Amino acid sequence: MNTTIAIVFALIAIIIIVSLIWRLASHRIKIPCPSWLGWMVELDNPFSKIHKARHIIANSDIQNGMTVIDIGCGPGRVTILAAEKVGLTGKVVAMDLQAAMLAKVEAKAKERGIATISLLHAGVGEGMLGQNMFDRALMVSVLGEIPKQKAALQEVFNALKSGGILSVTEIIFDPHYQRLGKIVMLAQEVGFEKQEQFSDWASYTLLFRKPSQ
Ligand SMILES: C[S@@+](CC[C@H](N)C(=O)[O-])C[C@H]1O[C@@H](n2cnc3c(N)ncnc32)[C@H](O)[C@@H]1O
Repeated sequence: MNTTIAIVFALIAIIIIVSLIWRLASHRIKIPCPSWLGWMVELDNPFSKIHKARHIIANSDIQNGMTVIDIGCGPGRVTILAAEKVGLTGKVVAMDLQAAMLAKVEAKAKERGIATISLLHAGVGEGMLGQNMFDRALMVSVLGEIPKQKAALQEVFNALKSGGILSVTEIIFDPHYQRLGKIVMLAQEVGFEKQEQFSDWASYTLLFRKPSQ
């Protein structure tokens, strides 16, 4: 019994130490969450309501028929729900740096018979998004993995339609967690207006609007 308790505590300590090291290292080098950790990204965090996929979708004001991009979609935790929300007349672009993550999204969409998701294998900030394309852009636990955040946000701003909304969600347990104040400042610098904020003790979602011209 004592040995079991010791093993559990040792494992918890290892997880805490690894995430602290990862968090410190992420200030210097940006390492995308590896695809073999996709199973972990897949899980809704039990300690935060705001970070759960269904709440992100509900808070992001996604409606039937919209065109949505999920930037840094990972294994598609949020992408699939976004596709269900926009329905058959809407479209969802799943964008990720890692082909292995996109393969997981593709498999899930196929399994559920969803044909409205297209895949974009690219990094945001590389100039692949075009202009005035999307009604909504989602960035969930991704900004901290991006080295040139302002360039990335500028590209997202340009890719949204006038009046379109960028939804940014962060959670404190992520080694790449980004402070709310910093994100508000960066988003405003590229032209967004802060529209709404949802938060709990561990997580937040910020909505930014691209002003109508
Ligand atoms: C922690 S995962 C989050 C996945 C998903 N958004 C979620 O919350 O379930 C971050 C994802 O962002 C991707 N990523 C990192 N930098 C990126 C970039 N510059 N452009 C697009 N995707 C990126 C990573 O490959 C990884 O799949």
